[in-house]
Amino acid sequence: MAIIFREQTKQFYLHTDNSSYIIELLEGKIPLHAYWGPRLDNMPPLTTWKSSNFMNFNALDIPTSAGGDFQCAGSLPLELPTYGAGDMRQPAFHAQYADGSRITKLEYVGHTITSGKPGLEGLPATYGGAGQVDTLELHLYDALQELSVYLQYSVFPAQDAVTRSVRVVNESDNLVRLLKVASANVDFYDMDADMLHLHGLWARERHVQRVPLTNTATQFGSLRGASSHLHNPFFALLSPDTTETTGDAYGFSLVYSGNFLAEAEKDAFNMVRASIGLGGLDFAWNLNSGDSFQSPEAVLVYAADGIGGMSRRYHRLYRDHLCRGRYQHKERPVLVNNWEATYFQFNEEKLLTIAEKAKALDIDMLVLDDGWFGKRNQDNCSLGDWYVNTEKLPGGLKGLGDKLNAMGMKFGLWFEPEMVSPDSDLYRAHPDWCLHVEGRSRSLSRSQLILDMSRADVQEYVINTVCGVLNSAPIAYVKWDMNRNFSEAGSALLPPEQQQEVAHRYMLGLYRVLETITSRHPEVLFESCAGGGGRYDPGMLYYMPQTWCSDDTDGVERLYIQYGTSMVYPAVSMGSHVSACPNHQVGRTTPFKMRGDVAMSGQFGYELDLSRLSEADLALAKEQVAFYKKYRHVVQWGDMYRLCSPFEEPFAAWEYVAADGNTALLCTYVVAGKPNVGRKRVKLQGLDATAEYKVETDGRVYSGAFLMQVGLAFDRNLDHLSNVTVLTKM
Ligand code: DGJ
Repeated sequence: MAIIFREQTKQFYLHTDNSSYIIELLEGKIPLHAYWGPRLDNMPPLTTWKSSNFMNFNALDIPTSAGGDFQCAGSLPLELPTYGAGDMRQPAFHAQYADGSRITKLEYVGHTITSGKPGLEGLPATYGGAGQVDTLELHLYDALQELSVYLQYSVFPAQDAVTRSVRVVNESDNLVRLLKVASANVDFYDMDADMLHLHGLWARERHVQRVPLTNTATQFGSLRGASSHLHNPFFALLSPDTTETTGDAYGFSLVYSGNFLAEAEKDAFNMVRASIGLGGLDFAWNLNSGDSFQSPEAVLVYAADGIGGMSRRYHRLYRDHLCRGRYQHKERPVLVNNWEATYFQFNEEKLLTIAEKAKALDIDMLVLDDGWFGKRNQDNCSLGDWYVNTEKLPGGLKGLGDKLNAMGMKFGLWFEPEMVSPDSDLYRAHPDWCLHVEGRSRSLSRSQLILDMSRADVQEYVINTVCGVLNSAPIAYVKWDMNRNFSEAGSALLPPEQQQEVAHRYMLGLYRVLETITSRHPEVLFESCAGGGGRYDPGMLYYMPQTWCSDDTDGVERLYIQYGTSMVYPAVSMGSHVSACPNHQVGRTTPFKMRGDVAMSGQFGYELDLSRLSEADLALAKEQVAFYKKYRHVVQWGDMYRLCSPFEEPFAAWEYVAADGNTALLCTYVVAGKPNVGRKRVKLQGLDATAEYKVETDGRVYSGAFLMQVGLAFDRNLDHLSNVTVLTKM
């Protein structure tokens, strides 16, 4: 059992293979956050620290539930800080009660420790059975307001991960209005730290930014109805000297796809409070008598071996204990998508021409993107009218699918089921089915509105429509898109006092729809997308094991995006395609080889008109597909090591080491050539120092120790030179 309760000291030890997370009940009542870091099997109770002068720790002038000096509560390390009872920092929990007060005082009343991990009702979450994960549930109670709060912790020892979520039960006869429920809160003692987070915008998602925390509150999140292009629901706190390979890294990742709030507040004592979850502007939830509210799950990972160590732990956890379905551990097909090849201008003949070329290259699947339905020849109409355009596809989806299957190709299809165009039969029939506020104009984005997924009738419509199409044709893959963010986020069915629930109810509705559709169609491989990577989060990965990384397919821009994405998400989840040049997003021309070498660091595919490729590029494409198929298991299931960051120099390098340790792929990319700079030496990681490795391109043999301590050298005098070098253990 990874969780131990010591009755005498009232401490809970949550042990992973390499770390410990320790909670202590102050006076047997208030859960303090005692410790999180490298494994620690014994810790003196916090209350003994002051007398032993173990640490000059103001928090130990402790106010008790019976009263006390409230000014000192402001520096207690708490597991669930609440508002208004002496702690002056940002709370993790905030609620308003029927008497108008906003004070919550929670005390421990009991706990359970169990093997395995229960699911979170209606929400995506990590999972695991007995022997893989253990769970602690702490029951806290506010006697005045008759409110129960359950803190749920699950420990994945092998991945050095602790998950946390919060369940609130209203046991009073009155309404409770929840205003903030952080899924996880960690109070660190006297800490100098940097925050690493992933920010961006459409077409440049998940760029890495590392900033020192100062004595203020740092806050980010989303109000867009999706986790968003702007800020991924993730951050890490790093010691100032932490590098890719050394030092403390504390990761916070939220398994959620909608609005969220992430905070790190450093107080005057240099205590850092870090939290992630629901709250902030425009979140409120009315909890009626007897009802319960389940927060999303936060996944906390500690690594002593730097940022890379943290990332590999997330990759393993999310591959093995978050993603699900038939494709979870299956090598994924190589596909060609027609979006950048044709946009809306295609017909069956054109698609079959691309498919024939693809087949000759040994590509497995053709994905038909936007424009196959209604009268959609541009992006201003027909979302909601999911019936096939027979002018473009005379034999319908089945006709096309059958022809592709007869050629030995699979058929994939694009949908954007959460959306409706004002110019659609669906909107004309149900104008109240979109998010809107009565009396206000409905702001358009890409000429579309958002269906109100909080409504059961809309959920049923989406389930029936998508399943109807999937039943009508041999569809092996779905790209589930979502191309705009919220405005006028109101629901016609909810009363005024519940309108601030809309964003979260939308997510619960969407998750119900995704659960239903994916379980009815286990044979389909699902890839999520939101104008590229606008909803690349663990919540979506629970339903769909891959995500279209970005609408930016430029070989150079993708280095930054994929490098940032790899902070949390494994390569097997990253849709990544070779597109045409000049690139459609940035106008840059990069060699076909480099575009392939970049796309191979993810779910490989093509997104261009193969019938317009030169013979030379077709020959190269054939080699790329064969190479990827031979080595995709290394990328998809291996461990990733980041070696050189494009954010630090115009050169990027990373490496995958196969799960069995027998093969490594070293990927190197020159972003911008420089004269007279000499060769770039790249030191590998994760190899067996005592083994010998053969470099497949030139047959040379080196020891693992040499490759890791001295490295291999690469030219960097020309723009856009790239290599994917195979090393085989001898
Ligand atoms: C946005 C996606 O990211 C693109 O790949 C493409 O599917 C378009 N939507 C289609 O409208």
